[in-house]
Amino acid sequence: MHQFARRYGPWALVAGGSQGLGAAFADEIARRGVNLLLVARRLEPLEETAARLRRERAVEVVPIAADLADLATIDQVVSVASPRQVGLVVANAALAPSGRFLDAEASQVASAVDLNCRASALLAHHFLPAMAGRGQGGIVFVSSLAGLQGVPALAAYSATKAFLIALGEALWAEHRHLGVDVLTVCPGAVSTPGYQLAASRDAPGSTSPQEVAATAIEALGHGFRVVPGRLNQFTAFALQRLAPRRAAIAIFGRASATALGKDDHPQA
Ligand SMILES: NC(=O)c1ccc[n+]([C@@H]2O[C@H](COP(=O)([O-])OP(=O)(O)OC[C@H]3O[C@@H](n4cnc5c(N)ncnc54)[C@H](OP(=O)(O)O)[C@@H]3O)[C@@H](O)[C@H]2O)c1
Repeated sequence: MHQFARRYGPWALVAGGSQGLGAAFADEIARRGVNLLLVARRLEPLEETAARLRRERAVEVVPIAADLADLATIDQVVSVASPRQVGLVVANAALAPSGRFLDAEASQVASAVDLNCRASALLAHHFLPAMAGRGQGGIVFVSSLAGLQGVPALAAYSATKAFLIALGEALWAEHRHLGVDVLTVCPGAVSTPGYQLAASRDAPGSTSPQEVAATAIEALGHGFRVVPGRLNQFTAFALQRLAPRRAAIAIFGRASATALGKDDHPQA
C-alpha cells in the first residue's frame, strides 16, 4: 500500500470535487490509492468525475450530491461518510461573489460565508476528533492569495479566504503534536471552469489545477501553508512583507478587477 494511503486513507472527502481544483485534488489523492467521497451540488459532473477516477485510478468513489452552504445538508454528508474511515478532508468548495459589495444580493454574501467558512470549519470539526484519536490524518483548506489582504470587488470572498488562513494556522498548531496535518493552500489564479466563467482573461502566473493540487498534496505534513507557483510565491512575499498594507490592497484589487473585467471599479 502507498505510504500516503496508510497515513491519509482509506477514504478522503473532497468538497467541491466534481470539477476544477477539487477534481484535480481527487485525482492526486486517488492515484495514491485512497478511496474518495466527492461532494458537489450537480450530480452529472460528479458522476462523470467519479466514473473517470474509478476507471483510471482503480479506487472506490462515492459521489454525494449536496449543497454544503446548507447547514442541514452538512449533517447528511457526514452521515453518508460515517461508515467509512475518513483520513483526509479537502475543504475546497467555495462561492466567489464579485463586484461592489453593496451591489451583491444579501443572500450571495450569506452563501459565501456559509459555504466558504461554515462548511469548511464544520467538516474539520466533525472529522478531526477521529483523526486525532488515531494519531494520523490531514485537513487541507483551499484558501487563496486573495485571503492575504482585503480585495475590492471581491470583498466577501477575500474575507472568507482570510478566515480559512487563520483557521488553518490555528488548527495546524493545535494538531501538529497529535499526528494530524493541517495545511492551507493559497493559489493565485487557476484555470478552472469556475475561474473561466468569472474572469474575462487569464491572470499573469496562472497555474493549472493539477499543479496546485500536486503541490498541496506534496506539502501536506510540511508546514501550515503553501503557495503554489513561483510567481505567486513572490507575489505573496512582496505583498505581505515588502508592500505597505494599503498598497497590497490596491495592487491586488487592481489585478482582480482587471481579470474579472471590472476595470471601472474604484480602487483603494
Ligand atoms: N480558480 C482560481 O483562480 C482560484 C484561485 C484561488 C483559489 N481558488 C479556490 O479553489 C477552490 C476551487 O475553485 P475552482 O476554481 O476549482 O471552482 P469551480 O471550477 O467553480 O469548482 C467548484 C467546485 O465546488 C462545487 N461547489 C460549488 N458550490 C458548492 C456548494 N454550495 N456545495 C457543494 N459543492 C459546491 C462545484 O460543483 P457544483 O457547482 O456542482 O456544486 C465544483 O465541484 C475554491 O475554494 C476557490 O476559492 C480558486
